[in-house]
Amino acid sequence: MTDITSRTEAALAAIAAATSLDALEAERLETLGKKGWVSLALKTLGGMTPEERTQAAPAIQSARAAIADALDAKKAALEAAALEEQLARETVDLTLPAAAAPRGSVHPVSQVMDELAEIFADLGFAVATGPEIEDDWHNFTALNMDETHPARAMHDTFYFPDKTLASSSEAVGQQKTPEGREVLLRTHTSPVQIRAMLDQGAPIRIIAPGRVYRSDSDATHTPMFHQVEGLVIDKGIHLGHLKWTLETFFKAFFEREDITLRLRPSYFPFTEPSVEVDVGYSNEGGRRVVGGHGDAPGHAWMELGGSGMVNARVLEFAGLDPKEWQGFAFGLGIDRIAMLKYGMNDLRAFFDGDPRWLAHYGFSPFDQPTLSAGVGARA
Ligand code: DAH
Repeated sequence: MTDITSRTEAALAAIAAATSLDALEAERLETLGKKGWVSLALKTLGGMTPEERTQAAPAIQSARAAIADALDAKKAALEAAALEEQLARETVDLTLPAAAAPRGSVHPVSQVMDELAEIFADLGFAVATGPEIEDDWHNFTALNMDETHPARAMHDTFYFPDKTLASSSEAVGQQKTPEGREVLLRTHTSPVQIRAMLDQGAPIRIIAPGRVYRSDSDATHTPMFHQVEGLVIDKGIHLGHLKWTLETFFKAFFEREDITLRLRPSYFPFTEPSVEVDVGYSNEGGRRVVGGHGDAPGHAWMELGGSGMVNARVLEFAGLDPKEWQGFAFGLGIDRIAMLKYGMNDLRAFFDGDPRWLAHYGFSPFDQPTLSAGVGARA
């Protein structure tokens, strides 16, 4: 009895003093292991008379319980300490400069998209998105271009062939949506107008920046390029709102007050009336610089995009009553305005992924465009 008490005390002291999981395991084997003294003492109970057993059992069992609890507690403590130590040892010093590591930069297109979103957010526009893999209803029909409309042919559309019909001899068919619409890569961001109106109804104020695709390639055209669509639908909207919005945007974007816009009558199926938007610029040191009046000596006009009042037919396709709602829309080439702002002359370089070009024109990820700090900080 006293023997058990003193051995238990000795075991508890050894457990408390253990400084490693190995030392703790050795102590466990010595006490609760198959040949440990507690296990052996428990075995002796079997050979006792019931009276002897009633006498001896409680001391042995409480010794076993006390030692088992102490082992568990110490094991948890040692494991926690080991984890602490590992965490302290493996700390990464985030303040260390990554001196030798290659530096990434923000692509000018991403930078300009961030700048656009920042300026238009200030004017109360939300950013809307739509799929790049579109159908011909959203891309054409709902924008007032039915199957026979000549503008469809002018878009150099990439259609999706129907692989299920493909065979060496057979002509490849057209992939269709479940509604029977043709599947294509969107040729402009204008289908996002339709999707946004169908989703949100009116009033609405959105921009939709994104990738668009046309089968076209030379120094000023690439098969994939970027546009930003704008759409405002409300009551009593007129061309004056459109002109003010574009002027305010371009002044903020190019960070100068002397921006002159010219709205030239034009035609788009989805707007009526339609205008093309030109901006005055001059040539300075072989670089086109926006500003001033295009008709002034040494100045000229450059086309930046299309716009107009949303055609009543488009409102109807999008489920709105044209007697109640009016609006304007615009579509600008992002790559174009990026080239103009940052002085690049070959569009193809945008998509080459040449690290030297990116290092030269790229932007620091820390240079977030903000209206207060300037939307065009250079890297
Ligand atoms: N979607 C036209 C294009 O890609 C551009 C455009 C013109 C968009 C007029 C508009 C608009 O929203 O009103 O050529």
